[in-house]
Amino acid sequence: MVFDHDGLVKLADAVSKERDKITISTDLGLSETEIDLRELRIDPKMILPILKKERGIFKLEKGHLEHLAVFDDGYYQLVATGEAPTVEIDGIQMHRTKEVKPFEDARQKVETVIKKGDVVLDTCGGLGYTAIWAVRMGAVHVDSCEPNDNIRNLRKENPWSQELYSEKIKIHEMTAQEFMAECYDDQYDCIIHDPPRFSLAGELYSFEFYARLAEIIKPKGRLFHYTGNPYSKGRPKQFVEGVIKRLAEAGFKCQRMNQVLGVRAVRR
Ligand SMILES: C[S@@+](CC[C@H](N)C(=O)[O-])C[C@H]1O[C@@H](n2cnc3c(N)ncnc32)[C@H](O)[C@@H]1O
Repeated sequence: MVFDHDGLVKLADAVSKERDKITISTDLGLSETEIDLRELRIDPKMILPILKKERGIFKLEKGHLEHLAVFDDGYYQLVATGEAPTVEIDGIQMHRTKEVKPFEDARQKVETVIKKGDVVLDTCGGLGYTAIWAVRMGAVHVDSCEPNDNIRNLRKENPWSQELYSEKIKIHEMTAQEFMAECYDDQYDCIIHDPPRFSLAGELYSFEFYARLAEIIKPKGRLFHYTGNPYSKGRPKQFVEGVIKRLAEAGFKCQRMNQVLGVRAVRR
């Protein structure tokens, strides 16, 4: 069972009023179920300190609440949005959360390029939302790369990521570059490239990377490349223009998609 802050407040309230049962979402809003509070053996003292972590996501198991976050080479945490969570690495969110929620954001990205029957490469898997939407919109196979153990472990606990574990999606526990080194020419109908921001992973915006994308995508194959807010702080001026120039040199015909903050490109 997984709860955000609002869920925990409801749970704490029901426990403090010694209610036996409560109807509540245990999967971050995907569904609601009636749960028997006596069986859960929740100690209200355990919930109260946790309520300070307003953006956190918590797993309840055997009467114990676990914050879905990990300190490792950085601080990773699932962050509540009132819908599908995002994941933060050292305070940097991996999805849009303001104008559009992460799951809908992923849907809009995928919609720009997907066709029924496509074989798809999802270069940067993250929480799996883009891969999930690719399958929902008709992909027959998705290869999805995610090299980071912490992200892969957190998404296993995320109710909104569970469709990732589907026969149609093959998860590759490696970087996109490592995976692509083993791909053959013209392997993909469609590629979704949703990298971390440039300051964290500049190599995923390089000409060499785009040239390899151009080799493994079919002629007329479709690429969506998320580029983010062109006006965000610290961004080189003409950042998106630079992406488009390198993609064009690599063999793609590009179209800027301002609404989804990215570039749609077709292999010439
Ligand atoms: C913006 S998120 C992707 C979000 C994802 N599309 C989704 O639907 O949840 C970027 C992800 O790329 C991963 N990443 C970083 N470097 C990578 C690389 N070289 N190859 C593949 N993935 C990488 C990060 O760990 C992070 O999870």
